[in-house]
Amino acid sequence: MLDFLTQKVHDENRQGEAYAPFAVDENQYKKHFYIESYGCQMNFADSEIVASILQEQGFGATRNLEQADLIFINTCSIREKAEQTVRKRLTDFKKAKKSNPGLLIGVLGCMAERLKAKFLEEEKLVDIVVGPDAYRSLPALIEEAETGQKAVNVLLSREETYADIAPVRLDSNGVSAFVSIMRGCNNMCSFCVVPFTRGRERSRDAASIVAECETLYREGYKEVTLLGQNVDSYHYFDESIGEAVTFAHLLEKVAMIAPDLRVRFSTSHPKDITEEVLQTMARYENICKYIHLPVQSGSSRVLQLMNRTYTREWYMAKVDRIREVLPDCGISSDIIAGFCTETDEDHQDTLSIMEYSKYDMSYMFFYSERPGTLAARRYTDDVPLETKKQRLSEIVALQGRLSRESNEKDLGKTFKVLVEGPSKKNPDEWMGRNSQNKVIVFPKPTGLKKGDYLEVTVTDCTQATLIGNVKREK
Ligand code: SAH
Ligand code: SF4
Ligand code: F3S
Repeated sequence: MLDFLTQKVHDENRQGEAYAPFAVDENQYKKHFYIESYGCQMNFADSEIVASILQEQGFGATRNLEQADLIFINTCSIREKAEQTVRKRLTDFKKAKKSNPGLLIGVLGCMAERLKAKFLEEEKLVDIVVGPDAYRSLPALIEEAETGQKAVNVLLSREETYADIAPVRLDSNGVSAFVSIMRGCNNMCSFCVVPFTRGRERSRDAASIVAECETLYREGYKEVTLLGQNVDSYHYFDESIGEAVTFAHLLEKVAMIAPDLRVRFSTSHPKDITEEVLQTMARYENICKYIHLPVQSGSSRVLQLMNRTYTREWYMAKVDRIREVLPDCGISSDIIAGFCTETDEDHQDTLSIMEYSKYDMSYMFFYSERPGTLAARRYTDDVPLETKKQRLSEIVALQGRLSRESNEKDLGKTFKVLVEGPSKKNPDEWMGRNSQNKVIVFPKPTGLKKGDYLEVTVTDCTQATLIGNVKREK
């Protein structure tokens, strides 16, 4: 997740970016929708569900705002900054509405859920407000809005997983796709708004997940990322075989689809990642050796206030175990600077746990109080903004050094790389990722296609990227 005061060291995540999809054939539809997404990968995956529901109803996706009859903005509430970005974007849409009074504007996602009908009072231009579990009602809500009424559905569900809806892959590179395996979160970390915006945790039917991954593979995709706020607590009782499917079982089932289909997952909660998951990762070459294991803080006292349910020592032991079972595994983290009551000593603990864990990269934020969360109700947001920013800048600087050191260790090594396409900076160079999720750029050999595997030897690096030469095709 990104906002302006955070820095990502690798750019492997598209969190925080906005995008608009384009239709296969824009003229085949009577009406068009434009959708922009903010926040985490789950929100981006949800937009693909929304696109599918709308396409079923005869709406085509467009990248062109002027062509749109409907504008949707899929929103994020994780930090105040994320909400400000959405509000700013809504003022841009005001202009579009002036020139096209029939235009409908819909707010989807976590901000819609948090603010509910209040959104309509606060932002007069909005016609439709839909929470993350209510996307099936979009066609009815659009109809309602077309009659000039405001339409709202923010009901959360204990069952909805959209298991039967085949997502329309928006803005995809055709190589790598995200597959939602669960929704909601039961964890109640005290700083976090997600349990309120996404509701209770529920796991999607395992067979539908495997079927979606098989379809992706048949369509030429070479990598799937299984998504959930806490993938390790995935649990689905499969009545057809009378068996409970755990996350480790699910990983194995997806890994068995094909040896050249890479499997990734995000996010793991340190308290839930099991030995069985690590062993399954070790058994399958195509399960990528990369774990996003957000620590949040290195101080046991702060971790307790955060309700993360592990201590500093427990986390460090988990990192040790990962390194034992998977010696070449990449590890990344999320870190919050300046949570309530954080002292300089607590902050030093965060810096030292980063050193200990040797993260390859991190998403780093300063604490942003969210209304309604446990922390907002129980604790005072008492670390001054200047101190939060100062601590965050130290965290960012340290991560920069750790990322560089991690990359320097890879000099001279040869990695199997899944090719994603031309590098953004130089079209003569192509880029891909190794199993550890590091980006590698290399001169393009003739005849290379997206989705090919190559062996690349690392010759140079920056803090964010490995630079290499192709050894041979796999
Ligand atoms: N489910 C994932 C993370 C979801 S939110 C997990 O448990 O790890 C992504 C990240 O945003 C969190 O890991 C946390 O670092 C950050 N975050 C969440 N709430 C925040 C807040 N109120 N202020 C600052 N950062 C926050
Ligand atoms: Fe938020 Fe914690 Fe759930 Fe992650 S595990 S979504 S940080 S409550
Ligand atoms: Fe944001 Fe909601 Fe994801 S709050 S981080 S879009 S679950």
